[in-house]
Amino acid sequence: MGRRRASQLLAGYRQFLVGRPTPSSHEQSISGSYWKLNTWRPCCMFRVSVGTPQASNYLNLGKTYAIKQRSFGSAATDIRRNPAFSKLNADDISYFRTILGERNVVEDEDRLSAANVDWMRKYQGSSKLLLLPKSSQEVSKILHHCNSRKLAVVPQGGNTGLVGGSVPVHDEVIINLALMDKIVSLDKINGILVCEGGCILENLSSFLENEGFIMPLDLGAKGSCQIGGNISTNAGGLRFVRYGSLHGTILGLEVVLANGTILDMLGTLRKDNTGYDLKHLFIGSEGSLGIVTKVSILTPPKLMSMNLAFLACKDFTSCQKLLLEAKRALGGVLSAFEFMDRHSMDLVLSHLDGVRSPLPSSLYNFYILVETTGSDETYDKTKLEAFLLRSMEEGLILDGVVAQDINQSSSFWRIREGISEASVKVGAVYKYDLSLPVDQFYGIVEEMRNRLGEAAKVVGYGHLGDGNLHLNIMTTRYDSDILAQIEPYVYEWTSKHKGSISAEHGLGLMKANKIHYSKSPETVQLMADIKKLLDPNLILNPYKKILDLFAICN
Ligand code: FAD
Ligand code: MLT
Ligand code: ZN
Repeated sequence: MGRRRASQLLAGYRQFLVGRPTPSSHEQSISGSYWKLNTWRPCCMFRVSVGTPQASNYLNLGKTYAIKQRSFGSAATDIRRNPAFSKLNADDISYFRTILGERNVVEDEDRLSAANVDWMRKYQGSSKLLLLPKSSQEVSKILHHCNSRKLAVVPQGGNTGLVGGSVPVHDEVIINLALMDKIVSLDKINGILVCEGGCILENLSSFLENEGFIMPLDLGAKGSCQIGGNISTNAGGLRFVRYGSLHGTILGLEVVLANGTILDMLGTLRKDNTGYDLKHLFIGSEGSLGIVTKVSILTPPKLMSMNLAFLACKDFTSCQKLLLEAKRALGGVLSAFEFMDRHSMDLVLSHLDGVRSPLPSSLYNFYILVETTGSDETYDKTKLEAFLLRSMEEGLILDGVVAQDINQSSSFWRIREGISEASVKVGAVYKYDLSLPVDQFYGIVEEMRNRLGEAAKVVGYGHLGDGNLHLNIMTTRYDSDILAQIEPYVYEWTSKHKGSISAEHGLGLMKANKIHYSKSPETVQLMADIKKLLDPNLILNPYKKILDLFAICN
């Protein structure tokens, strides 16, 4: 884009400095492709929450869902039940009733079928029992009993996980923390929140917003996922580029171990170097080492000035350069840098009702969402404006629009956050969540598109600011020939390019026997030793994460 065109666009952008947008100007701006200044006072709850029917279903005694396919993909098929595990009997059920009460020991078929199947309806177990404890003591009693009886269990949160980790493989007992949803305290001087593991992320965000803070974590599943699930998957999400990993923001945890021991590591200090920092073992452990029952988390202050730009780029190199430019020019106010290709945009527009492109004149090759969050409106706008102007002049941006109100902002985010929902509507989705050096980021998407040809739709999107690519491959139904063309190719490619086969979703059941693509044998052995120390009967979330754990441990 030439300097003249760029200054024309920014002239339009400046024009909207005064006044709040009216609904009609909002309509106008999504159908045009010119800059407008964001004049809204943001609140951080504007993003769209994607519904997660399974999670709400089992709580609401909702209906059952037709299951498309049992456990399709990667390690998920044909896993033999570990004969060392006992089968549930009437005495077990009676015992659970004495500690939890009748209501929270669930054998109802509808509720069980919702809890047995994952969000994508791809992985399905056959558990006969769902337990809903209300306190850490109840979790402790459940686990103590299960451990002594060798009953396998699956910790479950909002059941929004994308790797089959949150549902049973066979008849494991499901322990869900939905009833442990209390906020324990908020230190308003330091922004430290202490809450139970079953709190829904969105509820925590709303609570904090009213108190002048925000959660350092935000993701499309926030309306259903639980903070205990977020910690157990070490979820990344949309604010990672600004606030970093949960390994940095989690200050303390309370965890119940497999034998029922309640491990109190619920510190609220920023600094504490006494001994090993064991809480980190549980962050990202996917329910394999203990159940996270309480959390202490550092929450950033809520900042009042927020801007969101929806940009189009001609090629991936421009996206990459734009990221560097954004980091340089926006520095500390950059709060999200999200990426999607034209196929992702096309997918969302074709499958989600009411979604429209903010840049409708044509489909561009790549789209970037750049969000800034700061405390000085004028300063933030000046920075964003300078960044946009320079990037346009350098030809990194072909077109773009800046959200001018909260509705418009939500509609931009809806596109990016709606990709997962749109993918599952195609029929079958093979999901890969890769961490890659940014210069290698898009190569695998193109390779897979060439490799699969007309047989599948291939889309690439993700958290470019964190080097995290989501590669989704979709077909109308699950097919082992397609799977054989994808795997192990994707994993080998990632390993060859020094990436990780899981950036944020975890290994779960899907990648249970794939850890060696990203970790050395010595590291895996140490993980197995730790698992055996903390869970000698291997009752916690079996068959997941490291599939041959049983063999390694024995
Ligand atoms: P579940 O799915 O119930 O469980 C996930 C794993 O954690 C399982 O292994 C389970 O056994 C374990 N677990 C759950 N609760 C506990 C507990 N209290 N103690 C111990 N173990 C437990 N992920 C990202 O990282 N970034 C994203 O941007 C993102 N966006 C998403 C968008 C959509 C629309 C969807 C459907 C999912 C998305 N995810 C994302 C994946 C998922 O939402 C996250 O992994 C989330 O953190 C899972 O939380 P949950 O409560 O639903 O856990
Ligand atoms: C995302 O970033 O949208 C999530 O991780 C979910 C997904 O990839 O489907
Ligand atoms: Zn993601």
